[in-house]
Amino acid sequence: MIARVWWWLVVGRCAGVVHIVHVVVDDVGWGNVGFHGNSEVETPTLDGLARSGLELERLYAHKFCSPSRCALQTGFAPIHVNVENVDPSVRNPSDPEGGYQGIPVSMVGIGEKLREKGYRTHAVGKWDVGMATNKHHPRHRGFESWLGYWHHSNDYWSYEEGSCGSTSMRDLWEYNATHDGPAVREGYEDEVLRAEAVRLVQMHDPREPLFLLWAPHLTHAPLEVPREVERLFLSIDDVERRRMAAMVSLLDTEIGTLVAALQPSLWKDTLLVVHSDNGGEIIFAGSCGGSNWPLRGGKFSNFEGGIRVVGLVNGGALGRRGKFDGLVGVWDWYATYCAIAGADPGNATRDSTNLWPVLRMGGDAPRTELVIGDSSALGYNAQGQTLVGGLLWRNGTALYKLLLGAANKRYLIDQDVRAGPLFPNRSALAPQLYFRRCGRTAETGCLFDVIRDETEDNNIAPQRPDIFYAMLRRASEFRLYSPNRGDEDPMACARARAYGNYWGPWINLI
Ligand SMILES: *[C@@H]1O[C@H](CO)[C@@H](O)[C@H](O)[C@H]1NC(C)=O
Ligand SMILES: *[C@@H]1O[C@H](CO)[C@@H](O)[C@H](O)[C@H]1NC(C)=O
Ligand SMILES: *[C@@H]1O[C@H](CO)[C@@H](O)[C@H](O)[C@H]1NC(C)=O
Ligand SMILES: *[C@@H]1O[C@H](CO)[C@@H](O)[C@H](O)[C@H]1NC(C)=O
Repeated sequence: MIARVWWWLVVGRCAGVVHIVHVVVDDVGWGNVGFHGNSEVETPTLDGLARSGLELERLYAHKFCSPSRCALQTGFAPIHVNVENVDPSVRNPSDPEGGYQGIPVSMVGIGEKLREKGYRTHAVGKWDVGMATNKHHPRHRGFESWLGYWHHSNDYWSYEEGSCGSTSMRDLWEYNATHDGPAVREGYEDEVLRAEAVRLVQMHDPREPLFLLWAPHLTHAPLEVPREVERLFLSIDDVERRRMAAMVSLLDTEIGTLVAALQPSLWKDTLLVVHSDNGGEIIFAGSCGGSNWPLRGGKFSNFEGGIRVVGLVNGGALGRRGKFDGLVGVWDWYATYCAIAGADPGNATRDSTNLWPVLRMGGDAPRTELVIGDSSALGYNAQGQTLVGGLLWRNGTALYKLLLGAANKRYLIDQDVRAGPLFPNRSALAPQLYFRRCGRTAETGCLFDVIRDETEDNNIAPQRPDIFYAMLRRASEFRLYSPNRGDEDPMACARARAYGNYWGPWINLI
């Protein structure tokens, strides 16, 4: 008996199970949530989780989806894994390692790390880190099950995404112990996904550690939401803003449902992380309603509105509450979760910083520098040469931000604009028309202290050439990873037809 108590004190307590529930929401802008002052839509769940948990004040992501998600799953900064948002049906046959959309074949995903340490691992929702081969499949990335879609987005009702010839293809897949193929489901996509996330939580044996990666479609385009939810926002006359408000509200409700499902047995040992993959979209009229107020720019731009994202942590395993203003990259969760599980993060420590001691006990932020990624080709989604888009450097009470335009874009950075508090503010409907030149000299360069000047109004490059050149030198030291991801592979369509007009992997590498 005494021996058992002793064992519990020593091992039971220290090695207690920590469940990890990671929710990566899509395109939710800085200003879309109540706790950042949005006055149009209430987000009581997120506000409550932020208030009773830890608000991440300086969480940075890539300026668009796939690179952020690749960074999250591999622990590498986007410039070291992927900076492109190309279609998952591309292939470059001459490069069997990196010649596909998403995560290069041999990198080790966080699901694998946690699975190795006995976690039960499940993914639900958007994948967007590669589809081409069996090596890009969630199974190979360490997940026991997955229900979701491969692309950046699909239709919320029909699950359609793109086409082969004149036939629309659908994108919804389910993989588990007994099935691996197109998922036959019906209904609004996020209700299907939320139901699966809740089911997994309810089925889970609390004695085993759980890793759930839930990536809702909400609030990414298309702006589609059940009519009964939209009806609650009829007082908003602008249709984009109304649908966005409804989508944010629905997302908030769904996260509340998941938290309620965690409460009975898992919550006290859970680390819940919720964050966005990039800023809110404010540029494509008709398909966006994001708000990054008061930040400058949005999704597809390296101004703060594109990369400083909504983030919070909660759950019983969290040891500290309040606001955390330390610099964090979305790729830091990798080293953090490895530390929680006792897994070796391997060479991901090059980019990924372990936040667990800070989250558990408090203390200062371990990260002082964060590299911002870019893709130098023209156009928002275009494939191009990898480029360091800038650097953040924490120095004392300052957080310096260097922004670098690309030579083949004449050093221009787009979305140098702040929309009003309620997007769309008609004075800023076409922010892609607003450019700022960010060159390679202190006279033409862009440098901000985003703690004193979070709206990037005050360019201090001309006054601080010392800091500008020091950061420029540092930015040029990063080694870039930029494989040619290739072109659309006709075999992707051939295989999609064979799957009954559903997208899926089409290359078996083993
Ligand atoms: C696996 O997926 C199939 C297809 O959707 C489903 O019928 C089955 O119930 C699932 N099995 C488990 C164990 O979840
Ligand atoms: C990380 O280490 C693995 C195994 O040693 C190696 O194959 C891989 O190339 C390394 N990746 C990077 C990005 O350094
Ligand atoms: C920045 O850091 C250097 C030392 O690395 C220090 O000398 C300097 O005063 C700091 N500047 C600010 C504004 O914090
Ligand atoms: C749009 O936003 C700008 C900046 O916040 C503000 O000056 C302007 O009055 C707003 N215009 C409208 C129509 O709301």
